[in-house]
Amino acid sequence: SLPVPNVQDLADDLTPPTLHRYLRDAHDAPALSSTNADDASSVPVVDLARLLDPAHADEEAARLRAACEDWGFFHLVNHGVPDQVIHDVKEDIKAFFRLPLADKQALAQGPAGIEGYGQAFVVSEDQKLDWADMLFLSTQPPEYRSLNFWPPRPATFRGSLHRYSLAVQRVATHLLAAMARNLGVEDTGRMTAIADAQAMRINYYPPCPQAHDRVLGLSPHSDAVGLTLLLQVSPVPGLQIRREGAWIPVAPLPGALVANVGDVIEVLTNGRYKSIEHRAVVNATQERVSVAAFHSARFDATYGPLQEIIRAGEAPLYRTIAVEDYVKLQLSSKLQGKSAMDAMKI
Ligand code: SIN
Ligand code: FE2
Repeated sequence: SLPVPNVQDLADDLTPPTLHRYLRDAHDAPALSSTNADDASSVPVVDLARLLDPAHADEEAARLRAACEDWGFFHLVNHGVPDQVIHDVKEDIKAFFRLPLADKQALAQGPAGIEGYGQAFVVSEDQKLDWADMLFLSTQPPEYRSLNFWPPRPATFRGSLHRYSLAVQRVATHLLAAMARNLGVEDTGRMTAIADAQAMRINYYPPCPQAHDRVLGLSPHSDAVGLTLLLQVSPVPGLQIRREGAWIPVAPLPGALVANVGDVIEVLTNGRYKSIEHRAVVNATQERVSVAAFHSARFDATYGPLQEIIRAGEAPLYRTIAVEDYVKLQLSSKLQGKSAMDAMKI
């Protein structure tokens, strides 16, 4: 991965040649690619409290099934993560990004790894850059953590992130168990295993008054993991999902998390649930902050279509491989601008 300027820093003093590295071609630019704001209200909403309440579970499970089959993205309300836990992690993350650049760069990514403070994967000098900085951390299980990348300031940061991480992992496990029941997978552990590990990508999108409609905060991608749960820290919209050729905003819904099916769920369900492409746009005047919690299996597990689904008479669309090999595949696929999921297709 190549070194890239810090966006929060350069946003204050931007020269035309530097801006050029971020300006998108017409077909990629948010102002010109088609958006369909009318559909925004129809992004499904799933209620986790109802899903866990025997009196309402069947009805809510049907909503979850439709959301997974038709959208791959949904708002999750009544998720049970305590308000205080969300409040604390939001405040500490905002405080982290307000620190002087040197404090943040003390946590800079190494040349080979993705963990730490920096930018997304950059492989060529002429690749268009994303208008964002990020802090990427392995969060679960605790033995996967590299605490040298965890901010020592603000002093409450590590505790807040730890509590949020545990609460969100519990939410992911409940959702995956409900998906397993919806799929007729009796061994729910086959699905919940894809929440055994967790990493977080904490995104900071500075405003871009010069060209907010020509840059992207995050390039279109699908998540290479199992299940993602996103906390939109600021009330500023930015996330968009691709649906029938249009980009549909997923505006922050107060109190909700955004859940989305990752590539690994598409593989496990043999394509019944699809991992949907999404991107982030930026604002002309307001910063935006978000936290994506990515859930995956532990390194010693395997990824492949679930037995129950294949037994139903379907041909497997994907190979079964060790998680460790999937992670290697992910890295080599990224170098070619492809997804690891494509490389697993039979
Ligand atoms: C992501 O796709 O990881 C985050 C998108 C967002 O900032 O809303
Ligand atoms: Fe994503």
